[in-house]
Amino acid sequence: MQKRPKIGIVMSTTRPGRFADIPTDWLFNIAKGRNDADFEIVDLRDYPMPFFEEKAPLHQAPPQNEVALRWGKKIASLDGYIFITAEYNHSIPAVLKNAVDYLHSEIRRKPATFLGYGGTGAARAIGHLGEMLLAASLKHTVHIGMTEMMGMLRGGKSMADYPYLDDYAKRMLDEIVWWAGTLKEGRSSDEVAEPARVPRSR
Ligand SMILES: Cc1cc2nc3c(=O)[nH]c(=O)nc-3n(C[C@H](O)[C@H](O)[C@H](O)COP(=O)(O)O)c2cc1C
Repeated sequence: MQKRPKIGIVMSTTRPGRFADIPTDWLFNIAKGRNDADFEIVDLRDYPMPFFEEKAPLHQAPPQNEVALRWGKKIASLDGYIFITAEYNHSIPAVLKNAVDYLHSEIRRKPATFLGYGGTGAARAIGHLGEMLLAASLKHTVHIGMTEMMGMLRGGKSMADYPYLDDYAKRMLDEIVWWAGTLKEGRSSDEVAEPARVPRSR
């Protein structure tokens, strides 16, 4: 494999007191122990974009908004993504959908996988997110259910009380690292790195 892939762990909720910090810190600590990839946390709190208000859709022109440009550059600098997401009203949080709307080709030909938490382990949100991303969405995901979440929020428990989740995290990390390294190598031999700005077919 060429160079170590860089993988972003994207935090997708921004409200004060969010649960997101708990699974993110847990996953980041496991990921840091690996020697086959570099990981960094990308927090949507650091990218406070307005609701999409560009004059042109992004398949016609890059965004004008400064924060959106910075967000796009950060995402473009990474080789793969782990989205940490809650489920808001049976889908992804609006702040994440807005952030996705501000992306175009930055995640093309790169892999994405998902850690969700909530009533169904955010399975519905993850299903929607996998569909909407232009990335290659992987299938080995991590789901933290309501029992575990409530145990941590109200029962004084921590991620360490649910050791079986470590196995799911390892499997997810094995997959994303393989795909991120393999697709990075594939992209480097691709002469047409930047696609023409054309709308997606679906
Ligand atoms: C607007 C809103 C909608 C929600 N909808 C759902 C839902 O559809 N399914 C679910 O399991 N939990 C739902 N919840 C509960 C969340 O799982 C829980 O509040 C979780 O902590 C949210 O993630 P966060 O703390 O990182 O913001 C919802 C919470 C909010 C704030």
